[in-house]
Amino acid sequence: MPNIIRVLIQCSVVLLLITLPVNSSDNDVVCDTEGKIIRAGYPHEKFDVITEDGYILQVHRIPQGKNQNQTIYRPVVFLMHGLFASPSCYVELGSQYAIAFNLADEGFDVWLGSARGVCNSRRHQQMDPDDRIEKHKFFDYSWHEIGLYDLPAMIDFALKVSGQDKLFYIGHSQGGTTFLVLNSMKPEYNSKIKAAHLLAAVGYQKNFPNERMKRYALLTDPLVEVTKMFGIVELDSGFLSAAPKETEKTEDPSEVRVPISDLGTTAAVKQMAHYGQNVRDKTFRRWNYSLGENLLRYGSLTPPRYNLSLINVDITMHYTLGDVLLDENDVLDMVRDLPHAKARKLTRDSFTHYDFVQSSFVKSLVTDYVINDLKRR
Ligand SMILES: *[C@@H]1O[C@H](CO)[C@@H](O)[C@H](O)[C@H]1NC(C)=O
Ligand SMILES: *[C@@H]1O[C@H](CO)[C@@H](O)[C@H](O)[C@H]1NC(C)=O
Ligand SMILES: *[C@@H]1O[C@H](CO)[C@@H](O)[C@H](O)[C@H]1NC(C)=O
Repeated sequence: MPNIIRVLIQCSVVLLLITLPVNSSDNDVVCDTEGKIIRAGYPHEKFDVITEDGYILQVHRIPQGKNQNQTIYRPVVFLMHGLFASPSCYVELGSQYAIAFNLADEGFDVWLGSARGVCNSRRHQQMDPDDRIEKHKFFDYSWHEIGLYDLPAMIDFALKVSGQDKLFYIGHSQGGTTFLVLNSMKPEYNSKIKAAHLLAAVGYQKNFPNERMKRYALLTDPLVEVTKMFGIVELDSGFLSAAPKETEKTEDPSEVRVPISDLGTTAAVKQMAHYGQNVRDKTFRRWNYSLGENLLRYGSLTPPRYNLSLINVDITMHYTLGDVLLDENDVLDMVRDLPHAKARKLTRDSFTHYDFVQSSFVKSLVTDYVINDLKRR
């Protein structure tokens, strides 16, 4: 009997977390990165990049600014989006305020990466993400695989096409997680990155600030089992509305905001669940299988940690006190363990986790600083 009750509770939590199937017309609008770039008046290129494990990723490029001359040298900047977001998050604020357009106008060769499973990167050489059986294998990934396979494939591709041997990296939220995964798991990539600006990068979550989500995190493993049982392997961005409400905003007439519904896409259950395990275990480390499978895969009963001391890229970690998904102490702990990192607290406490891609204030608070810093290098 108690078992049945437990399962019922778990199921209702799952139903809380999971919303209706993806509304494809909305998704088409969110995912139209190409259209948004072209309509804003910028040149656009897109490429398919194939990962070592067969996923097909669509990468976008804004090779130069509006009405500019391509013959001059333009350093490559590679931008990686966060969880439930897509490459479009960096252009959504338009030519005046969006990070990607600001960088292009300032003389950079801008590349927008895409994680597997998102928008036009929901493709694989062999597996069909919509097949009842194959989807389980297709979506068997977390941000670990995005860092380990997607990032290196896209970074190498951008370097090859541009003919450069190093690039600048910018990542928001999970785009920071995947950077830490890549450069600790494959330290040879450190030398391909001139400098990185990580925006609200999630890595250490020992002091995870939100109590409600912390309670969900305790249920991570049963949740994965229950969702699998129901054949659910992919989550809709509707999850974002179940996420904690950030600081109450007072209207500011000088601010332009993108609604969160214009940014949201999909993610694998395991991406959420891997964060859940890390919050629960207060450790930034690889996926926890059963004890036996851990032993088999890792040679130890507990999964290995990501070793930040192996990442020697010059990193600036931008963070804000208005972030309900990332605590200041975790940022400072990461900076302590990274050999060449510094923390940069934004001067506006009401700025939130998603404001890096949602609020026009990102330009004055973050982008102007980043551009100055990259131009000095
Ligand atoms: C582009 O830049 C090159 C090199 O500076 C110059 O020779 C050329 O005239 C420029 N073209 C245009 C259209 O401005
Ligand atoms: C990892 O998973 C195993 C098996 O599910 C579990 O017994 C163990 O407690 C987990 N490890 C931690 C540190 O939570
Ligand atoms: C992390 O890497 C450093 C530098 O190679 C090494 O000295 C240290 O033992 C590693 N830590 C762990 C936990 O593997």
